[in-house]
Amino acid sequence: MCGIVGYVGPNEPQNFLIEGLEKLEYRGYDSAGVAVNDNGEIKVRKAVGPIANLRKLIGDENLGGHVGIGHTRWATHGGVTVANAHPHTNMDGSLALVHNGTVENYIELKEQLQAEGVRFVSDTDTEVACMLVSKHYKELGDLKEAIDKAASEMEGTYVLVAVAADKPDMLVAHRRNAPLIAAKGKDFNMVASDFCAILKHTKDVYLIENGDTVVLTQDAITIYDEKDQQIERDLMHIGWDVDAADKGEYEHFMLKEIHEQPKGIEETLSRSLTEDNRIKLYGIEMTAEELDKYNKIVIVACGTAYHAGLAGQRVIEKVAKIPVEIDVASEFRYRDPFIDDKTLFIAVSQSGETADTLEALREAKKKGAHVISIVNVVGSSVARESDQVFYTFAGPEISVASTKAYTTQLLCFYMLALYFADIKGTITEEDYADFVEELKAIPAKIEKCFELEPFIKRLAADYYDREQVFFIGRGMDSCVAFEGSLKLKEVSYISSFAIAAGEMKHGTIALMEPRTIVIALATQDALFDKTVSNIQEVRARNAHIISVAKEGNISIEAHSNETMYIPNCRDEVSPLLSVVPLQLYAYFVAKDRKCEIDKPRNLAKSVTVE
Ligand code: F6R
Repeated sequence: MCGIVGYVGPNEPQNFLIEGLEKLEYRGYDSAGVAVNDNGEIKVRKAVGPIANLRKLIGDENLGGHVGIGHTRWATHGGVTVANAHPHTNMDGSLALVHNGTVENYIELKEQLQAEGVRFVSDTDTEVACMLVSKHYKELGDLKEAIDKAASEMEGTYVLVAVAADKPDMLVAHRRNAPLIAAKGKDFNMVASDFCAILKHTKDVYLIENGDTVVLTQDAITIYDEKDQQIERDLMHIGWDVDAADKGEYEHFMLKEIHEQPKGIEETLSRSLTEDNRIKLYGIEMTAEELDKYNKIVIVACGTAYHAGLAGQRVIEKVAKIPVEIDVASEFRYRDPFIDDKTLFIAVSQSGETADTLEALREAKKKGAHVISIVNVVGSSVARESDQVFYTFAGPEISVASTKAYTTQLLCFYMLALYFADIKGTITEEDYADFVEELKAIPAKIEKCFELEPFIKRLAADYYDREQVFFIGRGMDSCVAFEGSLKLKEVSYISSFAIAAGEMKHGTIALMEPRTIVIALATQDALFDKTVSNIQEVRARNAHIISVAKEGNISIEAHSNETMYIPNCRDEVSPLLSVVPLQLYAYFVAKDRKCEIDKPRNLAKSVTVE
């Protein structure tokens, strides 16, 4: 969704801002803009569409100055127009502001300001924030105090960053429940909503906390907490390389990230595996007594992370014998769930900034639950607000369609299940050792799945124009069906649906036609025959079957038009492998349909509005 970058330093900010915005493109946006304070004159340039349009608009123009802010906007309040794009300015152009998030009481504030004579030129809540800061700046003469006062009157979730014409060496930012970092360079300082925007220039950052206001000059980053006390926060060094956010030899981030899965699994596993092959979770420690306190686990997440949770639910219940509920975060809060201090709550999120997941987590905490999160982005809001964090080490995920984050999230659930089972004594030593060996073998087995790539390219070329695809499976396969279907629809725009294979005959089978593709997952040894029966049911209605089975199960071919084999494995861990051909299928179909794979229409990488 929206992205922010700001720069103060000896150089002209223009390139820092535009390159930073390009690194934030993956989050999804529909317009972009920059404002530079050129020695007392605020120059604003904004364009609808990709950053390339903004670059074209600026052309060879040199905006000058030493302080600037930039923004990518994903429209919420008002359409995609230049007037609605950020930065917004006050009426005399002496103050510019960018904003992520939403100001919930903006209508009320706008009416008050209008009554005082303020004229608005956009439909946005951001312009209201800008006018409010401007009003207080005129009264108080101090930009930090003006932002603090405006923030105290605004309701919602937001980050504000402002520059004022008469402060050519300073910018001020305020954070409330939306991500913000302040980055310390050699002779400059920056702010951003995401590490990617600053990684090229520095890896030293402060994580700005909720309620903080931060004042940046070329020489200093000064942070004030919500009680307005100047505060020292720890400087954190980011371990990622700038290359991690580049496509390298791949045509798309999605394909690169699919191929990074063995590494992501290895990295995540290695941090939680002792030399004698015991699972010792990175970031989480629990005694038998503590675990005993909880009478259930509740998993909450959105989209792909939720699909990882579906598999997590099954494996924790099966291996650790703890009851597990799961819900999508957008529903969780509104059903008044039974949560108390006997609940172990698990939030799953790649970005750690998903508004629905964050709000669900807060609700669970309010009700007394102990909160664990499975998160990829270090220092993100979900991570910071959890009692304990179990990080995935997938590395930066740039493609909007999540792939490597999903497999590392799955891995975390297997490790959690084994860890809990070990504590509770619900698993034998032999089974535990076997399970751990299976997990260690996964990276090499995923590499083996990549050998299917030429075959999948051919499948995609043959079937890319089919407009209706169903994913079916039983047990763990049903969880993967949901993820395979989501991948296909989000990158190729094909109407795809997932359903537990046994449910087909209770209604959905009415949709089967000769051109319908059914991707049937049949990797569960214990459920193989039953899945084959379900495949036969849809095949009898002329659907075209592409099946995914474990190698050796060649009997499936008699019931399928095409078959893809994954390496042999325990039933429980098959999602880590069977999802790979589905990710590749979605990718190659989208490519054949000439879709914008890394940034699908209407989608944003980090969904920071509810
Ligand atoms: C799908 C996808 C989304 C995210 C969802 C949650 O490919 O990426 O469904 O999984 O928006 O995002 P996070 O994991 O960042 O909370």
